[in-house]
Amino acid sequence: MVSNIKVKLLDPLDQSDSNIHTRDQALALLKEEFPHTHESTEASFFEWLVVAEDIESQIVLGVITAQRYLPTKAVVTDIVVKKERRGRLIGYKLWECLCSTLMKAGYHALIGYTELSNKSPLNSFKRIASNGPSSQKMIAVFGDLSIMESNCKLRILEYDMVRKSRENRIKEEQKDTQHRKSNGDSDWYEAIQS
Ligand SMILES: CC(C)(COP(=O)(O)OP(=O)(O)OC[C@H]1O[C@@H](n2cnc3c(N)ncnc32)[C@H](O)[C@@H]1OP(=O)(O)O)[C@@H](O)C(=O)NCCC(=O)NCCS
Repeated sequence: MVSNIKVKLLDPLDQSDSNIHTRDQALALLKEEFPHTHESTEASFFEWLVVAEDIESQIVLGVITAQRYLPTKAVVTDIVVKKERRGRLIGYKLWECLCSTLMKAGYHALIGYTELSNKSPLNSFKRIASNGPSSQKMIAVFGDLSIMESNCKLRILEYDMVRKSRENRIKEEQKDTQHRKSNGDSDWYEAIQS
């Protein structure tokens, strides 16, 4: 579920305590996942730093970063979601926010790359962007920002529909059980359940 999560772009010039606290958490997450790349990275290095944070605790759960590549193209430098919160669409939410932020800033395309052995980002890369060149080790992806943003929205909607239909099915099954019990079918029902 992503309803209790806020995804936002950090303002690199904002020196308020809360912004610095959020930035520090985002950097720590990057350093934890990529210790060699981000050992000495300053938050000011990133042109765009988008975070997903838990609304209540204000803990940063995910981060995506990007840099200018050409005048209207940007490159995604990293995306990380906290291990225990992966597989719950935070990644797609980060991509979606980054795409809309870049479009507002006048950009129209985004480039990303990863190692082919790194399975976790591959699904979202394939779903939202087109494959670019690939070697035995690396794959590059390329996408029009408006298409990438729509693809993220679509995946989030699909996921939500599956979740809702699963919840409805469970509710219906519970109602059915209640109904059978109140009709005196409980012995029969429990017998077939066991
Ligand atoms: C890549 C990463 C940011 C994805 O974040 P996430 O919140 O788990 O992703 P989402 O829940 O939005 O799911 C995105 C897609 O990736 C898939 N995915 C997530 N984790 C996966 C894993 N460990 N292995 C394979 N697929 C995975 C999801 O199933 C989903 O694909 P689907 O739409 O086909 O179901 C996260 O797995 C991560 O932090 N990985 C380690 C850091 C990393 O390698 N970053 C990329 C550097 S280029």
